Amino acid sequence: MTYADFYQESIRQPEKFWDREAQLIDWHRPYQQVLDTSCPPFARWFVGGETNLCHNAVDRWLRTQPDQPALIAISTETNTEKTYSFAELHAEVQRMAAIMQSLGVKQGDRVLIYMPMIAEAAFAMLACARIGAVHSVVFGGFASKSLATRIDDAQPVLIVSADAGMRGGKAVPYKPLLDEAIAAADHPPQHVLLVNRGLDTMNLVSDRDVDYATLRAQYINAQVPVTWLESNAMSYVLYTSGTTGKPKGVQRDVGGYAVALAASMKHIYCGNPGETYFATSDIGWVVGHSYIVYGPLIAGMATIMYEGTPIRPDAGIWWSIVEKYKVTRMFSAPTAIRVLKKHPPELMKKYDLSSLKALYLAGEPLDETTSDWIAGELGVPIIDNYWQTETGWPILSVACGVEHKDTRLGSPGVAMYGYNVCIINESTGAECGAGEKGVVAIRGPLPPGCMQTVYGDDQRFVNTYWSNFAQEQLYSTFDWGIRDADGYYFILGRTDDVINVAGHRLGTREIEESISSHAQVSEVAVVGVEDKLKGQVAVAFAILKHPELAATLEQKLALEGEVMAVVVRQLGAVARPARVHFVTMLPKTRSGKLLRRSIQAICEGRDAGDLTTIEDPSSLVQIKAAVSA
Ligand code: PRX
Repeated sequence: MTYADFYQESIRQPEKFWDREAQLIDWHRPYQQVLDTSCPPFARWFVGGETNLCHNAVDRWLRTQPDQPALIAISTETNTEKTYSFAELHAEVQRMAAIMQSLGVKQGDRVLIYMPMIAEAAFAMLACARIGAVHSVVFGGFASKSLATRIDDAQPVLIVSADAGMRGGKAVPYKPLLDEAIAAADHPPQHVLLVNRGLDTMNLVSDRDVDYATLRAQYINAQVPVTWLESNAMSYVLYTSGTTGKPKGVQRDVGGYAVALAASMKHIYCGNPGETYFATSDIGWVVGHSYIVYGPLIAGMATIMYEGTPIRPDAGIWWSIVEKYKVTRMFSAPTAIRVLKKHPPELMKKYDLSSLKALYLAGEPLDETTSDWIAGELGVPIIDNYWQTETGWPILSVACGVEHKDTRLGSPGVAMYGYNVCIINESTGAECGAGEKGVVAIRGPLPPGCMQTVYGDDQRFVNTYWSNFAQEQLYSTFDWGIRDADGYYFILGRTDDVINVAGHRLGTREIEESISSHAQVSEVAVVGVEDKLKGQVAVAFAILKHPELAATLEQKLALEGEVMAVVVRQLGAVARPARVHFVTMLPKTRSGKLLRRSIQAICEGRDAGDLTTIEDPSSLVQIKAAVSA
């Protein structure tokens, strides 16, 4: 079958198409209806069917390959490496599930997971899936305020965490941040389950905190059967940034997600049982959910969980892992490749990389220089793929498992099966022609695996994602894009206030709120500015309550450091602005709207754009002066 036919079938006959794909997973009870669109824009997939993500990721493989590697946990920070076979993973997940049950976790309860990249984090996710609890993983790089916001929205009965993570040889304590977040939260959990790695001292709060190792020993022989869930039951909530300061809980189902991942592993990532998959992301991001934990395991592959940086002990570390574990498919982000490019290529040449079939890159635009360089070094196809936390799996890419298709430099590829992608003119709502810039949108229903709703807020789901165009109810990706005459898309940046720092999605509004909490700051604007290494960095422009406090250069630098420290303490180092400039005025329209795009343009040395509505043009002079100082 050609990809064109495959794609057309998925759009014209989605029920026939996905009924076939659904056979890639195990169903405990068959579904009665493939797709229910009776309440648009909500879509329900495989209605009435019963299945379980943990069963498909773990138990299913016990029949055919119990002793094959399933989870390979590597830490170049603690110098540890451990492989769990499917049978061993099954046992660990059951222990974790029994512990959770003993702590009162029931079907439908939320469990918040705030953990470094250690095997126990995957056990916890799979244990939740096994017993029908809803996990909400919060990226370990986030700090107490980010964590508290998510605790209050998810209202977990249990938080699973650890004493510390480790980065660049230094312990990064988790427990103090967690304690601070719980103290600040309105909905503290009943229990906190802690993995003690011996990296930092922990004070256990009595009646609340429990030690994982102690309980694991108690439940060493636990057998916890899979809880069969209706396909549309909730599997997880993953928070992501948008236009407001309040992160959205992206909620996903069980059956649709399992089918979507199984299909993507076959058609896009081309993984086979017994092979090894290596995604270098973190479980705190959607790539970690889909392609570190669930996707590869559902495909019967071994998956690598890596704690460490790409350059420690040296920049050959990832390639040594590829050689040792015969990785066939690798998934990373362009920023990581740009980091590696700064190091001697001999480090790569030292290893036998003949097992590797392709490298997938996603999360941020892939520039030609980076793509060409890594393609030359590895000699395998470099496959860009474009998607979002909301969709859970690629919207644009090439499906080499269906038919070979050439990639096109600068383009993440063509529309993936199931996604009726269109480019919409922002002001008229009409569909754009080839070569015309517009907003990348998707005509509903969204395929299986995509978000069901915003957790606890159906209206926000409809208002945020489905109410942006005048002519038709379409899903907005909030990305600008262009389609060429052959159906290849090009992504041209976000339409909203989301920025992408080293492939990490951050909301500028959250950073602004954090900076505003500094006693001296009266107003602030944060924009994303192009950066050669990280893609973008956050740059802040703040107005001080007492500008005389930043009269000298020393005072400015000291205050800049203080503001950065506030962001690091509240949100985490990942959100730290690269610069904080002090100004006395911000460019605004006469109606008081901040002209962020103009600020961003000036920072990037571009023209400030249409300024007919600006209140006071001298504000731009200040921005220019600050940036060039
Ligand atoms: O702006 C797009 C950018 O990252 C956003 C989604 O980020 P996140 O929710 O963290 O999901 C990442 C999943 C890989 C998108 O709206 N983005 C993602 N992939 C690409 C990209 N921009 C350009 N090219 C890509 N391949």
